[in-house]
Amino acid sequence: DKQYDYLVVGAGLFGAVFAHEAALRGKRVKVIEKRAHVAGNIYTKEVAGIQVHQYGAHIFHTSDREVWNYVNQFAEFNRYTNSPVANYHGHMYNLPFNMNTFSELWGVRTPAEAAAKIAEQKAAAKVSGQPRNLEEQAIALIGTDIYHKLIKGYTEKQWGQKATELPAFIIRRLPVRYTYDNNYFNDTYQGIPIGGYTQIVEKMLAHPEIDVETNTDFFANKAHYLNAYPRVVFTGMIDQFFNYQLGELAYRSLRFETETLPVGNYQGNAVINYTDAETPYTRIIEHKHFEFGKGDPEQTVITREYPANWQRGDEPYYPVNNQTNNSLYKQYAKLAAQEPNVIFGGRLGQYRYYDMHQVIHAALVTVATEFDK
Ligand code: FDA
Repeated sequence: DKQYDYLVVGAGLFGAVFAHEAALRGKRVKVIEKRAHVAGNIYTKEVAGIQVHQYGAHIFHTSDREVWNYVNQFAEFNRYTNSPVANYHGHMYNLPFNMNTFSELWGVRTPAEAAAKIAEQKAAAKVSGQPRNLEEQAIALIGTDIYHKLIKGYTEKQWGQKATELPAFIIRRLPVRYTYDNNYFNDTYQGIPIGGYTQIVEKMLAHPEIDVETNTDFFANKAHYLNAYPRVVFTGMIDQFFNYQLGELAYRSLRFETETLPVGNYQGNAVINYTDAETPYTRIIEHKHFEFGKGDPEQTVITREYPANWQRGDEPYYPVNNQTNNSLYKQYAKLAAQEPNVIFGGRLGQYRYYDMHQVIHAALVTVATEFDK
């Protein structure tokens, strides 16, 4: 191997930011990626002129101006605002819970009328004391109607468990907005990169000091890599790195069913959640609406998203950050601290649900500790 300063394992957002910043500081970086493409879970691919979000809908949002300016170096963002709609047995409700939702549910017109309705339902449900499960918690927060129509089925599908068996802490708060505002996020900046996300990672990695090798799994040659490279940035699964010696960390997985349909506009919104228990998927994404109907006017690409149990070998989408897993992760983090030449980063390396802006921030913090110490 040519002399590299760093091996970066994983060409997702964390690995790409790190590699880019290292190269800017004159370091030589090798990036290996086990998938056939770069960009990790933010990967988008063009089909019929439409940027398809291959691993689930990705909406960039942040209140961190530094992160926003950073990512804008690599793409121009549009003014997309996440405003999902819920389909409950064929009735459509705006999300997040706001005056539009309340008005659709109950015909109320003012914030006072909506608040009175919610208070009345909470009182009628007679929940008091410490909520013992997710169901009690949700009803205590928002009343029975919204719980039954918009939360219960969706949440049970997502976790593969009954709401009465799920811990209350999963929903400590529910965003309730007494304004007619369907914007899901409260952040200052929000948008979708025009032309997709993959270009962002490609541009980060397009540097003469960076070499990228796809279809390459770190674990096929772990000992060699650890020997040959002075420093390693590892963004794969931390428990796998240690050969699961303390046990397995748990994940929820997803199955995506993507179809190209011969219609111009299938559902009129990028994201529609199916909040009943009977529909087996949690949502349908219609990708062209992320870029305002760009692409073939006579075709559209939709993706049904099915929650799935995870087993070793499946794609690990969501860490299950309950007490058991978090304390197991802490044990792995102790082992990680004993690896002087390996940095563990990103959502799999740190076993944390990271949004994109958080992963960029975390990578920039790692860069600062690594180079500016
Ligand atoms: P990521 O998983 O992207 O990259 C890790 C890379 O390492 C992968 O490419 C993997 O193949 C590779 N790798 C792993 N093991 C390896 C090995 N042994 N050898 C070689 N390579 C290996 N965020 C947000 O801000 N807004 C949103 O709307 C969404 N939506 C969303 C939907 C869904 C369904 C998911 C699962 C996630 C989101 N996110 C999100 C979160 C977003 O996807 C996340 O923040 C980033 O992709 C994390 O980047 P990482 O680099 O940490 O991991």
